[in-house]
Amino acid sequence: MNQIIETILNHRSIRSFEKDRPLSQEQIQTIVESAQAASTSSFIQAYSIIGITDKEKKTRIAELANNQSYVENNGHFFVFCADLHRHALIGKMEGKEVEPSIESTEKFMVALIDAALAAQNAVIAAESMGLGICYIGGIRNNLEEVVKLLKTPDRVIPLFGIAIGYPAKISGQKPRLPFNHVYHENVYEENEQKYIDELQEYNEIIQKYYEERTAGKRNDTWTSQMGTMLEKQSRMYMKEFIEGKKMNLR
Ligand SMILES: Cc1cc2nc3c(=O)[nH]c(=O)nc-3n(C[C@H](O)[C@H](O)[C@H](O)COP(=O)(O)O)c2cc1C
Repeated sequence: MNQIIETILNHRSIRSFEKDRPLSQEQIQTIVESAQAASTSSFIQAYSIIGITDKEKKTRIAELANNQSYVENNGHFFVFCADLHRHALIGKMEGKEVEPSIESTEKFMVALIDAALAAQNAVIAAESMGLGICYIGGIRNNLEEVVKLLKTPDRVIPLFGIAIGYPAKISGQKPRLPFNHVYHENVYEENEQKYIDELQEYNEIIQKYYEERTAGKRNDTWTSQMGTMLEKQSRMYMKEFIEGKKMNLR
């Protein structure tokens, strides 16, 4: 165990931040530089990060993300974007026809993976400074509006926000799936009964977690939560939206 692993294992999303306590420029810079230090597929660096300092924009993003109060009230709000815009420019600079490659599903995946790796580095950096974080996928409720607000060009897809700040309320840690359930060796072990047994075991842990956290008010298991969520289709406009931004999924 070392301090970095302790920080990682201590993660929990923070949804309440100290009021009027913004991050310093130095903290913002360290967080972004930590994001940039992440590995990046073929050195492509296919992401951008937009910090939201404009109060009205922040309020509007909070509205678009289902009125989550911590999107508005935090120390700093970052939006992580998949970004192949600069690569289209590189095509022009270098006189190369790059569009067919840029407009592929593979490059879209590369940009998503790059942005996620950068984001999680930013999160670890922030948490190591004693700050709290919450990812905000809610910005994908209405990406057309977010794009207008942030003026992102074609080939740039805002993926999620991260609210960062000084924690005002520390939440409990959510237990994860059992190690054996997510870790396989050499081959994917596909054993339905074993999977069901492990999920039931995990359900008991999660049920206890919710019971304790809500003084017995919430009676929920992980599989029931997932079943209810996955029964509904969400944000089904996404494929069309992405293709409309010239990230064609060929
Ligand atoms: C990409 C992404 C999007 C998320 N979006 C939201 C969100 O919009 N609102 C929210 O309250 N939490 C959001 N979360 C946080 C998850 O709900 C949280 O990580 C999960 O429940 C596990 O809890 P923990 O982070 O406290 O361990 C998001 C997490 C990720 C990775």
